Amino acid sequence: MCGIVGYIGSNQAAPIILDGLSKLEYRGYDSAGMAVFDGEKINAKKAVGRLKILENLTHGGETMKGTAGVGHTRWATHGAPSDANSHPHLNAKGTIAVVHNGIIENYIPLKKKMISKGYEFVSETDTEVLAHLLDYYYKGNPLEAISKVLHRVEGSYALGIMFSEYPDEIYAARKDSPLIVGQNEEGCFIASDVPAILKYTRSVYYVDNQEIVQLKREGMKFFSVDEEELTKEAVTIDWDADAAEKAGYEHFMLKEMYEQPKTVTDTISPRIKDNDIVIDELKMTDEELKAIKRIHIVACGSAYHAGVTGKYVIESLARIPVEVDFASEFRYRDPILGDDCMVIVISQSGETADSLAALRDSKAKGYKVLGIVNVVGSSIAREADSVMYTWAGPEIAVATTKAYSAQLAALYLLAMKLAKANNRVSEDRFQQLLVDLRKLPEQIELLLGQKEKIQHFANRYVGAKDIFFIGRGIDYAISLEGSLKLKEISYVHSEAYAAGELKHGTISLIEDGTLVVAVSTQPNLYQKTISNIVEVKARGAFIMAVTSVENQAIEKASDYVVYIPQTDPLFTNSLAIIPLQLFGYYVAVGKGCDVDKPRNLAKSVTVE
Ligand code: G6P
Repeated sequence: MCGIVGYIGSNQAAPIILDGLSKLEYRGYDSAGMAVFDGEKINAKKAVGRLKILENLTHGGETMKGTAGVGHTRWATHGAPSDANSHPHLNAKGTIAVVHNGIIENYIPLKKKMISKGYEFVSETDTEVLAHLLDYYYKGNPLEAISKVLHRVEGSYALGIMFSEYPDEIYAARKDSPLIVGQNEEGCFIASDVPAILKYTRSVYYVDNQEIVQLKREGMKFFSVDEEELTKEAVTIDWDADAAEKAGYEHFMLKEMYEQPKTVTDTISPRIKDNDIVIDELKMTDEELKAIKRIHIVACGSAYHAGVTGKYVIESLARIPVEVDFASEFRYRDPILGDDCMVIVISQSGETADSLAALRDSKAKGYKVLGIVNVVGSSIAREADSVMYTWAGPEIAVATTKAYSAQLAALYLLAMKLAKANNRVSEDRFQQLLVDLRKLPEQIELLLGQKEKIQHFANRYVGAKDIFFIGRGIDYAISLEGSLKLKEISYVHSEAYAAGELKHGTISLIEDGTLVVAVSTQPNLYQKTISNIVEVKARGAFIMAVTSVENQAIEKASDYVVYIPQTDPLFTNSLAIIPLQLFGYYVAVGKGCDVDKPRNLAKSVTVE
């Protein structure tokens, strides 16, 4: 996710900004830039690629003289990595510079409005609209201009802003994207995260939603979005530098699990408008969507598991047949596709070799490909006919958690869109689905709150040799992902089975004390799964059940039960995965495994 650093004080700003940005590199980025006021004007420099390139370009910041500035590492969202799309963005006169982390959801209408007023845009970003809006509303008072702009934008933002007419001030503002400010004897700092300024100060203020900060050399003032002055308490940071990178979490994987409520919100909320689902990126009319008679989902690893869930959800809601393939199989099995078929390639990285090859193959045969991709500007994003981005931000841990959750959310949206285009869903059901979709982030949060309980349980299984996951229907899809999470990071052998299929061979592996994780979230299958639980329990299995609140009958057949909150049966995977992720994580932690970098695995597999 983008990183922001700002400084105003008695020292040179550029070296401090570069140093701060380097401490935010862990967040992932593809380009960097900074703006520094040199006493007369704002100078800006940008560079695509590693921060080192910006450092070289500016001789470690030495060629950008000045004691006030803002800098940015960009993780591309709107528009591929390029100099034009990199931050800072400036107004045409070059008197206002802005860096931004987040997404301005209503940037398209705002951009249209600004164009109609004669503003020219030079980038594809949502952020540039802020530079022009600030210019439009600036009448000599920066705070007033910022306040006016913030009243007009929707979405999320952490901002660093400077006005050349106010060289002794820089500004920060925030809503739903992380931002802190800090102070020492020589100046004040803005940062997306603690590591960027830990070297300079341990006394920081967490900027709250819709607050604006005015920073001067000698101190800071806080304001509400309505320009009322606020008083805030400083917080003393006692983490070491390593813990600070992970925001105090022990591993990136845990941090990323905790980012899932935000990830799901970010993926869903820009696409829900006026109680409807709008996916402009599909570039397809309802008529064109209606013409789709078959879908092939192609992916690898966890993205494949998201696809398996997608199959159940799309088939159930839209009644369109869906096939799901491992990309490595799809490309060599000469699949039968028809003119009325859509190929969906799901990939976090957008670079997985097999998925990319499957995409190229499908395109070469003349089929339209939709990419569900996390990394903007990646190969799959560039080559697909249309792209639906999952807004999970960069994922550092090799084992995916938040990107997977975002993929599920994207697939739900798509399924609902297809269902509506095909008149397969009543308006009442559609509206109820929207309600349930919007509730998912807070429900995920609730489940994350059970971490200690799951950790306690997981500790009993650090010595396990085999663990089985069973479920039926959509619960089978989640069993696949739960089993993969566990085995990839803890090295405990694990298999996922369709619950009814276990008795056809694999049940012979069940011994006294073998843990079987049974997922049962589908009301029409509760009884069936209980029968399967009883079968393995009779062979000595210990049962952990993950089920819906209403299915308390499962307690009699199980040894340990985790309940997930009420949601539509088609969305339960987004909730059931949370205890399974936590379980896998804590077994791995208990065994002392290198959780973020499991042996033999790569985050992005770019070979066949
Ligand atoms: C690797 C990763 C998995 C991931 C899979 C597909 O195996 O370790 O976590 O699910 O690739 O990656 P993609 O980037 O295409 O989603």
